[in-house]
Amino acid sequence: MNLVVIGAGYVGLTSALVYAKLGHRVACVDIDSTRIARLDLGQAPFYEPGLPELLREMQEAGRIVFTTELNQVASDADLFLLAVGTPSDSAGRADLSYLFSAADGIGAVLDHEAIIIVKSTVPVGTNAKVLARVREAMKKAGRGDLAGLVRVASVPEFLREGRAIADFLRPDRLVIGADDDVVYALVERLHEGIPGPRVLLSLESAELAKYAANAFLATKISFINEIAQIAERTGADVREVAKAIGLDPRIGPAFLQAGIGYGGSCFPKDVSALHQLSGENGYAFKLLSAVIETNNHQRELFFGKIESALGSLKGRRIAVWGLAFKGGTDDVRASAAIDIVQRLYGRGADVIVYDALAMENAKRVLPDAIEFAPSAVDATIGAEALIVLTDWVEFRDVSFETVRTSMLEPKIFDGRNLLADLDLGTRGFMYVGVGIGNPKS
Ligand code: NAD
Ligand code: UGA
Repeated sequence: MNLVVIGAGYVGLTSALVYAKLGHRVACVDIDSTRIARLDLGQAPFYEPGLPELLREMQEAGRIVFTTELNQVASDADLFLLAVGTPSDSAGRADLSYLFSAADGIGAVLDHEAIIIVKSTVPVGTNAKVLARVREAMKKAGRGDLAGLVRVASVPEFLREGRAIADFLRPDRLVIGADDDVVYALVERLHEGIPGPRVLLSLESAELAKYAANAFLATKISFINEIAQIAERTGADVREVAKAIGLDPRIGPAFLQAGIGYGGSCFPKDVSALHQLSGENGYAFKLLSAVIETNNHQRELFFGKIESALGSLKGRRIAVWGLAFKGGTDDVRASAAIDIVQRLYGRGADVIVYDALAMENAKRVLPDAIEFAPSAVDATIGAEALIVLTDWVEFRDVSFETVRTSMLEPKIFDGRNLLADLDLGTRGFMYVGVGIGNPKS
């Protein structure tokens, strides 16, 4: 099939390359000319395992092209896939301006039968609006007679950053929202070769299912973070509790990792968008209000522990390991780590940071006065405390004997419980995790 993917971000670029790998002819369009120029040269715009290799393979096979000009690639497309960003607006709703602008752009050039697939995460009712906008733009362009040939499908994406290609190739399920059997069949054809159960549902259910999935996972995280607070105050250990409850298949072990809360470009904005959508439809989603509040509170409580242990942070040299919103990515969007570094800086601390991949992205958002260390150990030299904010497994392999001797004060505050099982307390450190209380007995 001939496919045009609009948006060359985590979702768009991954989709474009995987569909090309499946044998489709793909054109990937983005308004960011620098990104397109780099992609043309075979350079991946962000870190994602396997992406540079797949990019090279598909370019060499001539199965993908990159362009900023939709009109140059629209003429023989069977499908248009929308994967542009839907960030939070100032009220916490999904900002649909990029999506609607892309829909208008398709309608302005479309002169044949096609399906518009919406892969961006969007509020219920958006697919219908996208279709209406494409048809309206066709009318304006003098092709209103063909507008009835355009149809829409909601195919939300569930990939995780850092595992984007693997998740896309082997999804837990493929959710296809549509209101007609021909559309289901064509979307199925596009995915031939992708395993996993298919869930065929209405456009509205598909749109809501995507938000429900992210909101449920965020709820699990906030739940375990509240258990962590009780554990800390009562002498229990949240890691043991998570293991004990996670073995119940009705609960499951995933997303029970306590810490400084969820971040990233998706959970915060999607939980907020679902909360707003609910309110706009006359229902106060109280559970989600609490999920959001707990997530914000979790950072404050962690920061409070640092301050109460160290006293005034003014002029104190503090080392930070981790800036990405989670390990395995270079993405710092809505990262809890960035927020905590800014808080430390705001209190006058002398902050020196290290991250395995995210330092370049972090430099764009952190104040100039933040120092960037060339290695994890270098960051700790002369530090009065080390704060771990991202769960990079590499940090576990650092020589803690070297870290102890290079620090001025061997104090570790671990916002991810990443080092909790390394017995640092008996190796000369003061170690503070999240939800790890001292047993009373
Ligand atoms: P992103 O910010 O990485 O990329 C979006 C791209 O769209 C950018 O390159 C931008 O320049 C481009 N763009 C914006 N308007 C455009 C237009 N009119 N025409 C062409 N290109 C345009 O975004 P992302 O992380 O890939 O997310 C995209 C959507 O997918 C969002 O709705 C997000 O919630 C959803 N999603 C993201 C993930 C993830 O892990 N990042 C996973 C599942 C779903
Ligand atoms: C998340 C979902 O997992 C994907 O299924 C979804 O497609 C995507 O959002 C999206 O809609 O964009 P991602 O943002 O890549 O994927 O990251 P996750 O691995 O889900 O982690 C999100 C945040 O939760 C991170 O800050 C992570 O550190 C935190 N987290 C995760 C915890 O604090 N505890 C956990 O147990 C798990």
